[in-house]
Amino acid sequence: MISIAIDGPAGAGKSSIARAAAERLNYIYVDTGALYRTIGLAAARSNTNIQNEAEVEKLLKSLDINIVFFNGEQHVLLGDEDVSEKIRTEQASMMASKVSAIPAVRAYLLDTQRDFAKTDNVLMDGRDIGTVVLPNASVKIFLTASPEIRAKRRVKQLEEKGIKCDYDEVLKDIITRDYNDSHREIAPLKPAENAIILDTSDMTLEESIDALVKLVEERV
Ligand code: DC
Repeated sequence: MISIAIDGPAGAGKSSIARAAAERLNYIYVDTGALYRTIGLAAARSNTNIQNEAEVEKLLKSLDINIVFFNGEQHVLLGDEDVSEKIRTEQASMMASKVSAIPAVRAYLLDTQRDFAKTDNVLMDGRDIGTVVLPNASVKIFLTASPEIRAKRRVKQLEEKGIKCDYDEVLKDIITRDYNDSHREIAPLKPAENAIILDTSDMTLEESIDALVKLVEERV
């Protein structure tokens, strides 16, 4: 099986770029952030005190999270409920960032993520795919863009959905999330030793997809 690890900070366009590249390459696209978001959503709903290890363990034991693919699109199921849309709010995103720093949460998701790469050719997107989840991935790419460009793209994306937002707030959130993700003790966001850095700050979406596909095709 061929596995491609795509890591990088929030809002670098990873999911749009990786999803489209996976489609062109005919690989399964796995968005691992959705799993952390789902745990974040479940923690918020159940009022779990995430500072309390025992409470987190209890929550994890009660969870039934599955990824299914409908027409090639990834959907996340929490029990019977399709939470794919509900995990996309800014609040779920902040909760995801918090729960993702908890060792028990990362351990809980490790096998789920690895299992995908056992049965299919995957292009897996996250923060620690090349460093922790799939250290033997065939190709590792660290996809990034400047915080300002990421904030601009995010504002545009939210406005297109009719959601009002403030550029400075969005930029502040991105910088906070980058800091949290790269300074946590466990599986911090950083390029794997042999990762190729792909900076999309000056690229359009199409150019970024082309660049990613080319990097993979040259190496597998
Ligand atoms: O990619 P995303 O924004 O949907 O990720 C949501 C949060 O989950 C983000 O704060 C980082 C965390 N995450 C992680 O720690 N490890 C992963 N493999 C994927 C996401």
